[in-house]
Amino acid sequence: MSDYEQFIAGINKKTGINLALYKEAQMKRRLTSLYEKKGYRNFVEFLQALERNRDLMNEFLDRMTINVSEFYRNGKRWEVLQNKIFPLLLQTNKRLKIWSAACSTGEEPYTISMVLSHHLPLSQIQVLATDLDENVIQKAKLGLYPERSLAEVPNDVKTKYFAQEGAFFKVRDEIKRTVNYKKHNLLNDQYESNYDLIVCRNVMIYFTEEAKDQIYRNFSKSLRPGGILFVGSTEQIFNPAQYGFEIEDTFFYRKK
Ligand SMILES: C[S@@+](CC[C@H](N)C(=O)[O-])C[C@H]1O[C@@H](n2cnc3c(N)ncnc32)[C@H](O)[C@@H]1O
Repeated sequence: MSDYEQFIAGINKKTGINLALYKEAQMKRRLTSLYEKKGYRNFVEFLQALERNRDLMNEFLDRMTINVSEFYRNGKRWEVLQNKIFPLLLQTNKRLKIWSAACSTGEEPYTISMVLSHHLPLSQIQVLATDLDENVIQKAKLGLYPERSLAEVPNDVKTKYFAQEGAFFKVRDEIKRTVNYKKHNLLNDQYESNYDLIVCRNVMIYFTEEAKDQIYRNFSKSLRPGGILFVGSTEQIFNPAQYGFEIEDTFFYRKK
């Protein structure tokens, strides 16, 4: 076994995270720069240190899960969600079952609620938001963001749903109440069913082809017929038909 393979096995045992399903060259580069900075010489030494040191483990988790996010990321796509996809979904159901998968620090699920609030009262909106990383979930629940995270937020939404606190912006409680957070590993955990909408953006790029294939299959099973999968702006699905998807719009797939 190579030292990276030993590292993968050790991390899987300790955390349930299978690094073998993440693109290897990219992941190795990120982790090598971290262990070198910390003064370790190879993956085996790094693993031994991680097993003893909780703070280092948190730093490792932080490095392997890339948490960058922002509100209304790729703004044009959110206009399509607001003006085309939600009206379509609301023709079938007035209560939508929605999942923001790999939600990071909360910008994405809060954006979903803000966009849907153009069609429904907030009391009728519920979004499940999940991530592998408990640290980002804590930040999401806090809902406090630097101004740069709000660069794409329309002005009326900014005034309505954020309160400025010094250099930061806080999401108002009425929006926070629409989102439920839960820890969930897309590569290991069960997927619920009967979703109207699954939003999963800017995480598939880190996975191997094999892992992506499995996740798209799971998403397809999780959506009701006619339900929509909304992916990131570099993440077109190469052959959507093989998962039972049809293209509804750029980066939106409808389950047949
Ligand atoms: C770049 S962020 C994307 C955030 C948001 N979806 C967006 O597009 O702005 C990627 C997120 O995927 C999460 N992630 C990585 N591997 C995961 C896995 N196996 N299961 C669930 N979430 C995972 C990371 O913790 C990180 O928060």
